[in-house]
Amino acid sequence: MKSDSAGNTGLNPSRLPAHVAVIMDGNGRWAQKRMLNRIKGHEKGADTVRAVVRASREIGIDFLTLYAFSTENWQRPKMEVSALMTLLKRFLESEQQEMAENNIRLRVIGQADRLPKDVQDALARVMEATGRNDGMCLSLALSYGARAEIVEAAQSLARQVKNGDIQPDEISDELFSGHLYTAGMPDPELLIRTSGEFRISNFLLWKIAYAELFVTPTLWPDFTREEFIGILKDFQNRERRFGRVSAS
Ligand code: FPP
Repeated sequence: MKSDSAGNTGLNPSRLPAHVAVIMDGNGRWAQKRMLNRIKGHEKGADTVRAVVRASREIGIDFLTLYAFSTENWQRPKMEVSALMTLLKRFLESEQQEMAENNIRLRVIGQADRLPKDVQDALARVMEATGRNDGMCLSLALSYGARAEIVEAAQSLARQVKNGDIQPDEISDELFSGHLYTAGMPDPELLIRTSGEFRISNFLLWKIAYAELFVTPTLWPDFTREEFIGILKDFQNRERRFGRVSAS
């Protein structure tokens, strides 16, 4: 059963984006502004993740995809990478029960095999525990890069052509989409980026073709449920034309 509490928020439940994707940026700057170690910013950022996951579930969003760790993030100082992995593991352990109880299914997109073994094990446990849930799909983009995702899809299709399983002409939008990490998910209708940078940063390049973009100057640790609802309201007021002319 999906919740239908969008009404309490002033949102129109019939015009919610089915899939919201978020580039969570600004943890480091949040910490620097307070003369704190960057890791403190990530810790506070993890609290925001909890709040946004809860809010999305309550509002009735079907798919929420969070950019938690990019392939480029491996190049950060070892200490910071290790702190992010620890935070991720802690998040999975602390949220497993809540996800199970709230009908949230966890999915990972990215090169999960590059993650430390203990994080992979924690992910496998939560995915196993939540695999049959159908209330909201929470996807964590981990060791994720959209170009690598597209290249892997191309390689997989090229192998099928080489084996004679498909003809090159059979490769369509749908078939290609089905070979991405995001196979089976609707395209994100709304992409939010925090901390004021107008960049896509190699996130979901194929899937965001028609997404509405929303950039907020708020740093991710300061992002709130209220601001999230405000962005969803803004989305509901936008006219989406998909390259066509206005209906009126
Ligand atoms: C960007 O901030 C954020 C990240 C690199 C990772 C996002 C991680 C979290 C929100 C915390 C842990 C995640 C989960 C799922 C529990 P930045 O460091 O690039 O900030 P800056 O641009 O200000 O330096």
